[in-house]
Amino acid sequence: MSINNFREDELTKEVIKRTTIKRLFKYMLAYKKVVGIVLSIMLVIITVTIVNPLFMEIAIDQYIANANYTGLFFIAGIALSINLLAMILSKIRIRLMAEVTNKILVQIRQELYEHIQKLSFNFFDKRPAGKILARVIGDVNALKDLLTNSVVTLIPDFITLIAVLTVMLIKNYRLAFAALAMLPFLVIGMWLIQIKAHKRWQVEKAKKSNINAFTYENFSGIKVVQSFSAEAQTSGSFRELLKEHRNAFFSAIYLNNLFWPMVELSWGIGTALVFIFGIAYIQTDTITVGLLVAFITYIGLFWQPIMNLSNFYNQLITNLAGAERIFEIMDIEPDIMDQIESPMMPEIEGRVEFDHVTFSYDDNTTILDDVSFTIEPGQTIALVGPTGGGKTTIVSLISRFYDIKQGSIRIDGHNTKYVNIESLRRQMGIMTQDTFLFTGTINDNIRYGRLDASDEDIIEAATAVHAHEFISKLEKGYETTVNEGGSELSVGQRQLIAFARTLLS
Ligand SMILES: Nc1ncnc2c1ncn2[C@@H]1O[C@H](COP(=O)(O)OP(=O)(O)OP(=O)(O)O)[C@@H](O)[C@H]1O
Ligand SMILES: [Mg+2]
Repeated sequence: MSINNFREDELTKEVIKRTTIKRLFKYMLAYKKVVGIVLSIMLVIITVTIVNPLFMEIAIDQYIANANYTGLFFIAGIALSINLLAMILSKIRIRLMAEVTNKILVQIRQELYEHIQKLSFNFFDKRPAGKILARVIGDVNALKDLLTNSVVTLIPDFITLIAVLTVMLIKNYRLAFAALAMLPFLVIGMWLIQIKAHKRWQVEKAKKSNINAFTYENFSGIKVVQSFSAEAQTSGSFRELLKEHRNAFFSAIYLNNLFWPMVELSWGIGTALVFIFGIAYIQTDTITVGLLVAFITYIGLFWQPIMNLSNFYNQLITNLAGAERIFEIMDIEPDIMDQIESPMMPEIEGRVEFDHVTFSYDDNTTILDDVSFTIEPGQTIALVGPTGGGKTTIVSLISRFYDIKQGSIRIDGHNTKYVNIESLRRQMGIMTQDTFLFTGTINDNIRYGRLDASDEDIIEAATAVHAHEFISKLEKGYETTVNEGGSELSVGQRQLIAFARTLLS
């Protein structure tokens, strides 16, 4: 998979769009009730919209034509009240829908986060953090409008369309056909465009992800960038990435923008046809002026939902690529998993056996080739060897961060492959070469090793690794805040805190 760095685009697997759409809208099912209320509100609003032209027809043909002003005021009063009601209802539905969409986004993001956390080292070895960030934040955000509009636009506009069409057909089917003459061409045109557009949006998302990865990487390593005066070079790479993204975006949006002229042209031609036929019908007294006026309004009412639906379709194509990227990650099975009913690892005494272990990270290069050794409980041992020799690998294997290809690793006689992973790892303390401190206090960072440790335990651990002395000299002592990089502490101090954390665990 070419997802290794910011220069390479992630390849999104070709999935069936319908599957993604279905999966996305499944989240909506949990909010059936609210969605039901929203749809009912939409139904009332649609009804109001559809009867409006009828009021107009009656007002013109019956009251204005006969100078009946009482009747005119009466019908205007009714029209005003129900339109007011529709307005209030529409405010309520906007709020309801916003709540539902936000809840769904929170849910998707939480699921994605929890899923990613479960994935093995293998997954993270291959992906820059910036690209993961792009999916958890950006791609999820992009679904917001899509979800809202699926309820607010899709169903109501479809109903409007059918209702208006029915009224038009009943009122005068010839004019109705004239108004919709261009519709079939429009549908075919849109369908053809979407096939290409979808691919281009996939590329656009990948390019955006590259920018994310690059930005994240370079600001994480900003001290290196500055100390090597590499600003100009990184700015250049950044400009290059921006340009690539811009091109991808333009090429995609160009297709989306073809939609509008197509819709408007079809609308315009339809209206022109209705005028041509309508005026001829009025001259032969087949229809009234009021009907033609009402009809022209109906054409507007008919094309408005088509505009909305095209807009939705546009959004769907644009953001489907984002949804695909989210589900793609959710579908990755952690490759290191407990077997069903793996027994708990009993309290470890410390006998470590490597029995003809063969291991490679990527199936190509063998890192450990038929390695066997035994370490007895209480024994202190050092692995010495050249850089890249496989020392850290051996440590990672003991905690089963990767699975071996052949042989077995046993701790106190238990094959690590068949015991509950958490019960195994919880009993190990690993002090990695690169110390990592989380945002929080020194206290929090040490306690990370064992969450139920008391303050005394923490001080004891810190004292044991000779960290207590410098910590107590800090103005806020154990309550001093450090951050991700731990940048206000020296490297040695950071290492000592990490030592204390490991010791505590
Ligand atoms: N996540 C990984 N994916 C693929 N290959 C890896 C990965 N980690 C290490 N390697 C490769 O495995 C080999 C052993 O790496 P390892 O980190 O175990 O070496 P080491 O003995 O700890 O080296 P050092 O003394 O430099 O820390 C190296 O050749 C390295 O390129
Ligand atoms: Mg190492």
